[in-house]
Amino acid sequence: MSSANPQGLQAFPDELADRESWLNPFEWYRQMRDDAPVRYDASRGSWDVFRYDDVKRILDDDETFSVDPERANDFVEPENEGEGLILQTMLFEDPPRHDELRGVVEEPFRPRAIRQLEPRIRELTTEILDDVLDDADGKMDIVGDLAYPLPVMVIAELLGVPAEKRDQFKTWSDTLIESAADDVDTQAYMEEQRQVQMEMAWYFLELIEERRENPRDDLISTIVTTELGDGSHLSREEALGTCILLLVAGNITTTNLVTNAVRCFDEADQFDAVRGDDRALTTAIEEVLRYRSPVQAMTRVATRDVDVQDATIGEGDRIVVWLGSGNRDERKFDDADRFVPDRAPNQHLGFGHGTHYCLGAPLARLEAKVVFSELLDRVKNVRVADTELSPLRSSFIYGVESLPVTFDKR
Ligand code: HEM
Repeated sequence: MSSANPQGLQAFPDELADRESWLNPFEWYRQMRDDAPVRYDASRGSWDVFRYDDVKRILDDDETFSVDPERANDFVEPENEGEGLILQTMLFEDPPRHDELRGVVEEPFRPRAIRQLEPRIRELTTEILDDVLDDADGKMDIVGDLAYPLPVMVIAELLGVPAEKRDQFKTWSDTLIESAADDVDTQAYMEEQRQVQMEMAWYFLELIEERRENPRDDLISTIVTTELGDGSHLSREEALGTCILLLVAGNITTTNLVTNAVRCFDEADQFDAVRGDDRALTTAIEEVLRYRSPVQAMTRVATRDVDVQDATIGEGDRIVVWLGSGNRDERKFDDADRFVPDRAPNQHLGFGHGTHYCLGAPLARLEAKVVFSELLDRVKNVRVADTELSPLRSSFIYGVESLPVTFDKR
């Protein structure tokens, strides 16, 4: 199957096609790092890059490795306006336009601005936990009961949209990160993706027009009112795309950071070690970002013929850079396949690197810290229940659909 969606990430490599291997792709990554660190996969029409140094080099060189899918030889023009919105955001634009688009929302995501949110994030976490623990009976689903609702509530509040919309947001986000499985009709899949992007566009369009007239103290107002260097504003499409990007990029990723952290802490028996110790918790969360990176892969397009290892990647070729494999590279990390909660330094690529380094990293880190400090304050003896885990149906987001745990109240 050739890559037809903007991200070019919808297709699983054959090696990860069955669900079990996507739950544990790490052994395959290791083989690839050793035997075929840069390989062309004809079935997906894409290169794959597996070693830390190569992944980092590609992320750092945005002249040679573009994020703009339109530069790919096999790029297919989106059929309608809604579908192309996400392509007009910072994530899919190279400098200098990237820097202008990112500049509009950079300020509110800086560490200092994000720190101010901590009390409110604690309040929201407490509300969620009050609800869950009240009738939990010593059991909960980490994904549905905790790790999903919090990031949605936080980003909804920051953007300035009503939290009541959050079930709708979940359906939208889930659909957008989904990959077409072999048993799915590609036409129907593409249609569903289009439909969701249109629905989101209509929803945000109304809010955008409203905030243009009556700006408030929220991100949507910032997005529509901030002037670019030349005094212009984001176009309507760019503003819409930015809203959708922030909603989607911030949710499912943070959900999976929290969920993956519970799996790591359970396996390494770390819940007691991080309880009440912010430093230990912060360091352990960084190790989760390395060891079970919520974002396993991103794509680039070569802007010229370029050699990586022994391979020559042609101009216009797509490249999947495997952050999740770079993060397990024994050439970079001692004991790379072991979860080491106090690993330092830890120069993982879980949030990317270079120009497109994750805008939401300070927010994601804060949310994860608050979730665990509040949760572990109220429960003990947390154990992942002995059930079969189901990986997400996304070829670049790593996590599980649900994660039942048992616990005792403290
Ligand atoms: C970019 C991961 C949370 C917004 C990225 C990139 C990665 C990433 C790997 C780089 C993409 C590339 O190089 O092509 C994650 C992870 C998260 C997380 C693992 C949670 C654990 C968030 C949050 C937000 C956010 C909470 C916002 C609310 C963005 C944006 C970009 C981005 C806007 C594009 C930046 C640019 O192109 O300059 N993220 N992210 N992310 N992330 Fe995150």
